[in-house]
Parts: sequence; structure tokens; C-alpha cells
Amino acid sequence: MAFTIRGTIMQTPTAEHLQVLQDHVVTVSDDGVISSVVPGSAHEGSVEVTLAEGEILLPGLIDLHVHAPQWPQLGSRLDKPLEDWLFEHTFPLEARFADLSFAAEVWPSLVGGLLGLGTTTAVYYSSIHPGATQALAAECLRQGQRAFVGRVAMDHLEGTPEWYRDSDARSAVEASHQSIVDIEALDPSGLVRPIITPRFIPACSDALLEGLGELAASSGALVQTHCSESDWEHQYVIERYGVTDSVALERFGLLQTPSVLAHAGHLTPDDDLVLAGTNAGIAHCPLSNSYFGNAVFPLRRVTDAGVKVGLGTDIAGGADPSLLAQCAYAVTGSRMLEDGVNSAVDAESRGLVSSRVDMIKAFYLATVGGADVLGLPVGILEAGRAFDAFVVRTGDQTSVRRWPELDDDEAVFERLVRLARASDIVSVWVNGTEVQTRQVS
Ligand code: GUN
Ligand code: FE
Repeated sequence: MAFTIRGTIMQTPTAEHLQVLQDHVVTVSDDGVISSVVPGSAHEGSVEVTLAEGEILLPGLIDLHVHAPQWPQLGSRLDKPLEDWLFEHTFPLEARFADLSFAAEVWPSLVGGLLGLGTTTAVYYSSIHPGATQALAAECLRQGQRAFVGRVAMDHLEGTPEWYRDSDARSAVEASHQSIVDIEALDPSGLVRPIITPRFIPACSDALLEGLGELAASSGALVQTHCSESDWEHQYVIERYGVTDSVALERFGLLQTPSVLAHAGHLTPDDDLVLAGTNAGIAHCPLSNSYFGNAVFPLRRVTDAGVKVGLGTDIAGGADPSLLAQCAYAVTGSRMLEDGVNSAVDAESRGLVSSRVDMIKAFYLATVGGADVLGLPVGILEAGRAFDAFVVRTGDQTSVRRWPELDDDEAVFERLVRLARASDIVSVWVNGTEVQTRQVS
């Protein structure tokens, strides 16, 4: 399986720096880990894969927040506020995954679809069903996607419908524990791993949150949940506990292992300080936030405060499954936050100064940022990290045109992130194994 690949690499080792390695050779060892990245002129011996003119090799994308059972709803049913959307559209769809034959229709399309977009790592919420959850983990393994898969835990008598909830806190914790055991047994290699998944505070009883905090401590498994997503959700937690989500989650022991907190658009500066002192990171889902968040996530403030942040699609609250597209949405949202959105307000007081981020920072979050949140050695193509990568075609006959007389590297990179489509992504590797190839005519 050891192989070498030669071509041009674009990646972001820091949030400020676009690194372009023209004509380099990446050598990948049998275990899928990169052993060297050297200039083509310094490489001796043969090369298995040579990229064609215009093709660019990039580190694989890390989607920190995917609701797998919402895949059939992608692109639709975005008309209601979060609390109504969950009960009217989303819980009924998720409840169908009690039927394993329905799951068997959905999972291959989801996992294959995301891999085809360059998403080499995905962090999934499954449904409450152990069977569908195990089937999702098996499908990730079958298609070779690096993944965290979580059985959703939710038992609250008001925050969930009686036809889609765990029967009580004790059995929910036990089912989540069993799911950890089952997924670890399925894949001892650790490419696919379990993650503890209390849906969000409004859907969970205190006993469940406490029990899952204890499970995190005893198992060491990662945790994912939603945090300060919307006005309603943020206020609900303050009314229930007198503190914000991040403080409540920390008290329940849910931030001790690496934790992925989705959205967090309503974090306060005090929350920034709480989170910066924990193992938690944020899944910033910019498109979803414009539908359900009621505000733009203060990305720049939160990263400046030292909190870890990566990107997520929030399929299907986010209607676009592409993480490259989320990079562009993150940039767009940050510009709207900086300038403000209401022209009836004076320009000087309309926005929040120093909020904008650029595409280099956005891509950094989609790769290195996500890797840091999860504690995975991926995100950059360099010796010692796993070879998770994808190739994008640019030039004529692609969505990413080139204008050699006008373009510099940064212009090509920005255009690639904004405009590349699935049809331009020709190869995808996870842990040194090619998991998708697209024939081009
Ligand atoms: N909060 C609780 N459940 C969900 C969900 O499925 N999607 C989003 N966006 N927020 C949630
Ligand atoms: Fe979500």
C-alpha cells in the first residue's frame, strides 16, 4: 500500500499562511502515515501517482457536525424556527431510522456523497437507534471514511416527543455505553470511533446529562452536543440552570474529554474564557446559523480568545453538504457581522469591528482547526500525519478557471475554495487508501 504522489500541494499550516508546494512528492507508508514531503527534484525512485496539469492536492476536509438521518431532508424544510423545525420535520424523519432498511437506503448515499466532496473525516449524530447507529459506523468503515459516530441520547419529557425519545435516563446511558462498546469492536483500527451524543440540553434530563458525563469520564470517549445555538435555546438553558450552556455542560462533566460543541453563536466573552480552559472546541456551521442561529457566530473574537474552532455543515439544518462551501459561508458571515445588516442603522454603529476572516483562515478551520478539536493527526500534508487528502482539477472544463496572466497562488486558492464542485474532485484518500476516484473524459 505504500505509495508516492507527485504534484502541487495547497494547504494552510497556520490560520494566516497559505503554503503552496509546487511539484512536491509525498511518500506514504504502509500504515497510511506520510513519511516525507520533498521537492520533486530531490526525490529519487519511481512515483505511482503524478497529478495532471492544473490538478491540486489538498488536505482532506473535516466536517465536525453532521446529522446523518437528516440527509433525506437536505435542501428542504427550512421554514421554521429551531424548536418547531425539530418537532415538525426533523424528529419524525429521525424516528424512521428504527427501520434498518430505511437506514440502509440512506447511509451509503450520505457517506459516499460526503467523501466525494473531499470530506475525509465526519463527526456524525446518528438517531436514537442502536441498530441504525451501528449500521452507520459500518458504512463509514466500508467506504473508508474517518468518522466519529454517536447514538443520540434524548429523554426529556417536554424537549422530545413521546414517539422519539429514550425511555429513561438509565436505559439511555446504558444504550450509549453499549454503542461505544459495539463501535470499538467493529473497528479496532480506530478509523471509525464512537462519540457520546447528548442531543442538547433541552432534550435531556439532568440525570441523563449527569450519566453521560460519568460515561465520558469512565470511557474517555469524545462528546458532542449543541451549545448556545439560538435565542430560544440559549435562554432556555439560562432559565433552567441560571447559567449558560458552556457552564452547565462543564458542570455535568461533558467538557473533560475532547468535546465538539455545535454552533455556539450566542457564546458570551465569559463563555470564551470557560471554553478556552477546557478540552472543548466549536463546530462553526455558518450556513445553518443563518437559518436557525438568530445571529452570526463571532468567529474572530472566539478564536482570538484561544478557543478551538473547526467547521461543520450541520446537515440538514445547513442545506449545503460541501465543507468548501462552508468556508465561503464563514467568510461571508464574518463580513456581514463586521459591516452589520440593517441599512437603517448608521454605518458606524451597524456592525462589529474586526470581525472579518479571510479564506485562508476559513480553510485552516476546515482542516487543521477540525483536526485540533478532535485530536487527530491530520489536516496538513506533512511527515508524521495521516495521508487524508483530495485532488481538485482546475482550468478549462472545470468550475475553477485559470487566468495565468492575472492569477497569483492566493487567487487560485480562493477561487478553488469558492467554486470547486464535486465534479472537480477527482480523487480522495483516507489514511493512505484511495476511497474515491472520478473518471474524467
Ligand atoms: N439542536 C438539537 N437538535 C438539533 C438538530 O438536529 N439540528 C440543529 N441545528 N440544532 C439542533
Ligand atoms: Fe446540529
